[in-house]
Amino acid sequence: MSQKTIAVLGAGYVGLTTAALLAHAEYKVYVVEPNAERLNAIKSGRSFFFEDGIDAIIKKAVDTGTLIPTDSYEQSVPDADIVFSCVGTPDNPDGSSNLSYVFGAAEQSAQLMKSGTIYVQKSTVPVGTGKKVMELLNPGVHYVSNPEFLREGTAVYDTLYFDRVVAGGDDSESVESVLDIYRQLESHRDTIAELAGIPTGSRKGLYISTKLNSAELIKVTANAFLALKISFANSIAILSDHVDADVVEVMDAVGADERIGRAFLNAGRGYGGGCFPKDVSGLISSSIENGVDMDVMQAAQSINASMPGYIVEKIRDSIGSLAGKKVAVLGLAFKAGTSDTRKSPGIKIANILDEFGAEVSAYDPQANKEAKDDLNDGIVLYDSLDPIEDHAAIIIATEWPEFRSFGAQDFESMIIDGGVLVDAVNIYNPTSFSESNLRYIGVGR
Ligand code: UDX
Repeated sequence: MSQKTIAVLGAGYVGLTTAALLAHAEYKVYVVEPNAERLNAIKSGRSFFFEDGIDAIIKKAVDTGTLIPTDSYEQSVPDADIVFSCVGTPDNPDGSSNLSYVFGAAEQSAQLMKSGTIYVQKSTVPVGTGKKVMELLNPGVHYVSNPEFLREGTAVYDTLYFDRVVAGGDDSESVESVLDIYRQLESHRDTIAELAGIPTGSRKGLYISTKLNSAELIKVTANAFLALKISFANSIAILSDHVDADVVEVMDAVGADERIGRAFLNAGRGYGGGCFPKDVSGLISSSIENGVDMDVMQAAQSINASMPGYIVEKIRDSIGSLAGKKVAVLGLAFKAGTSDTRKSPGIKIANILDEFGAEVSAYDPQANKEAKDDLNDGIVLYDSLDPIEDHAAIIIATEWPEFRSFGAQDFESMIIDGGVLVDAVNIYNPTSFSESNLRYIGVGR
């Protein structure tokens, strides 16, 4: 079998991870990125975002020439047997997905693809989009939807040791060819994991072929369900606050039921990132367009939107007016293990505190640069924890390992006597602060 050539359009989290991994699985891979700064980073053998293990695999693939970074569709697409569209789908102001890059990439590729090319959609799109994209392509090109389930922070691991790969389309042979790419990747996965310096896994993933529209719906449904679990846990957390229960104890026991599962029942400041907020609003928009009631997701969305404000209210209940009080938010990435700050609850909390007149400072071990533009002007960003002393409140908004390792003594110089430690991600054991001069506030405990 001759070596196949793949062109990956867009070098975001999904595109760059996919391209870099396939370049280690006997494919020749072009990664097409129009942004010069991002492209130069990749050419020099690194990613422009923080992601465990990815730099080592980019560097080796670029050095050996199996990964070819370019900004040119003309150079890459005509040479490709398979084209992966991994372009961004930002939010429209009404919450629906902006599909201009999805259609733009298809239009730009349409005239360049040879007959028989498989055009694979990896960008998350509303159900029904594939049929519209197909209208732009020549009849000899096959269209397959192949949704992506990787999480930021564990993108390399998730892509190598997947639970399932889904491919959906009208042409069953093309669907099988796409699944075969992952079978080939699977046969190289331990070697790649070793090179990336990440743990190996043993998961034997499922290969699932579906109808085109089912594949599109699977992706948003999976993310919406996880978001629903989080908002449900947060509703129970608010009730726990009222009735003096501990939501962590509740969810540990509830999640022990195999039918329910413990994952994604961690209450706290709510979900953020590039996927959940967008996929939830995308599913709501698709439902409205089709005249279908999706109140359940609307409720999940509004509970999530209320959590940063709820946490600030808890702080005000505890220390009174925030005007002029020194408070610090630790953790601005939307979760640990990433420098991504899109829709980050930590940033939202910092901005609300600022709007209440507090003197707000903030710190993140990886995401200060990304957070800067979204923080209100008055908020001071620190490069380390050293300047954080004598604060009325410290809010932990991201579960970074370095924060997890803190105990009461670490917070003593940061917080004034009688001040509050606000654990907005419920990572500490509340009883471990009972002997200290600070008060512990969790979410639902
Ligand atoms: C998610 C999906 O998990 C992944 O399968 C999909 O491909 C992309 O979207 P990601 O956005 O990287 O991945 O992060 P994830 O780990 O799912 O967390 C999303 C948000 O939910 C984070 O803000 C996280 O802190 C929050 N979260 C997660 C909770 O608040 N509670 C939980 O129990 C779990």
